[in-house]
Amino acid sequence: MAQIFRRWTNSLPQIGTAAVLGGGVLATLVVWYWFAPAHTDVGYAPAQPIPYSHKLHAGDMQIDCRYCHHNVEKSAHAGVPSTQVCMNCHRHVRKDSTMLKPLRDSWDNGTPVGWKRIHKVPDYAFFNHSAHVQLGVGDNRAAIGCITCHGRVDEMAVVEQREPLSMGWCLDCHDAPAANLRPTDKVTDMLWRADDAWRLKAIQIAKTLNPPGSRTQAFKWREDGTLETRATASCNGCHR
Ligand code: HEC
Ligand code: HEC
Ligand code: HEC
Ligand code: HEC
Ligand code: HEC
Repeated sequence: MAQIFRRWTNSLPQIGTAAVLGGGVLATLVVWYWFAPAHTDVGYAPAQPIPYSHKLHAGDMQIDCRYCHHNVEKSAHAGVPSTQVCMNCHRHVRKDSTMLKPLRDSWDNGTPVGWKRIHKVPDYAFFNHSAHVQLGVGDNRAAIGCITCHGRVDEMAVVEQREPLSMGWCLDCHDAPAANLRPTDKVTDMLWRADDAWRLKAIQIAKTLNPPGSRTQAFKWREDGTLETRATASCNGCHR
């Protein structure tokens, strides 16, 4: 970092660009954090209309994440299950539970339960689950597990945001995704650990991927010692 800045002082035009960019980011930062709603925060865990527990259903009962979040591999949004999915069981199980009254009301009236949204990136940033949950082609296929971005959901009685979902967080992985890759059939596995053979394979797979904004790809030193900035194109990858 120190080296970058020392060399940077030799190229005034870039400093100008950096200042404009930096100033913009700073201004936006101030505005952003000023108006930031709570759902961007790590630890955000709002009370839900029904005290549904992932610990009970996904942990103790081992129901696969995709039974309820069935769009997660196919579309941008993982989505929250419809009342129908819960009623597959709760028409028969605990059907008189007072905790489940809002579920029965939803079923009888055809109105949604009204689950509160927890994880949310701002509208000006683009995120797609299907592009992350399953990635690569041919022999170079891999996945990023739910646990990497959401933590041990199977141990949560109340879902809590574990990662900041900030731009820096996205870019940290885009810079070096290998350590976050896993075999495609381990997407929802909360206990999987990489072995040495997989670690080597993951490094190879990572080379075939092309995440936008990778900082190693964003800047390049020219032969004459000046800096070429190629970041703008990759900004569009997430800010479309
Ligand atoms: C039986 C259905 C069911 C299963 C199985 C299930 N979920 Fe959920 N999930 C829900 C419901 C309902 C909500 C909304 C209420 C809440 O947040 O608890 C939700 C919410 C979430 C959220 C937060 C959504 C938001 O608004 O940001 C995440 C993340 C999540 N689930 C991940 C998982 C993961 C990972 C698994 C597997 C370990 C899993 N879920 C298994 C039903 C399920
Ligand atoms: C595969 C079957 C199944 C599905 C699907 C399912 N549940 Fe359950 N749920 C159960 C079982 C079984 C229990 C009771 C566990 C026990 O008592 O040990 C339970 C318990 C509960 C309880 C606690 C009730 C009480 O009185 O203690 C709530 C609340 C609940 N479920 C909500 C939901 C919601 C909301 C959904 C849909 C997002 C859902 N469940 C989907 C099987 C299911
Ligand atoms: C690379 C990181 C990453 C992975 C892997 C990931 N998620 Fe997410 N998840 C996010 C982000 C970021 C959001 C907020 C998305 C938005 O605002 O559009 C989110 C939002 C959600 C939501 C809220 C509803 C929605 O679709 O936005 C649910 C539910 C969810 N994730 C479940 C899962 C499940 C289940 C898995 C594993 C099969 C998973 N996620 C894997 C990053 C991830
Ligand atoms: C744990 C690692 C990881 C995290 C965290 C992550 N990504 Fe990615 N993302 C990847 C990888 C790897 C690829 C490349 C996929 C490929 O080349 O097939 C990718 C690709 C993308 C793409 C291009 C594919 C598409 O959907 O058009 C976008 C856009 C993207 N990520 C946005 C985001 C945003 C926004 C965040 C933060 C909210 C984020 N990512 C967080 C690993 C990650
Ligand atoms: C991997 C996806 C990704 C790439 C690539 C990316 N951004 Fe972002 N950016 C985000 C996300 C996600 C946010 C929202 C952060 C939050 O909610 O705190 C964001 C927020 C911002 C903000 C608002 C200030 C802030 O920090 O909250 C600015 C300004 C910005 N980005 C500029 C850029 C520029 C300039 C580039 C190119 C050098 C770029 N972004 C590349 C994902 C990305």
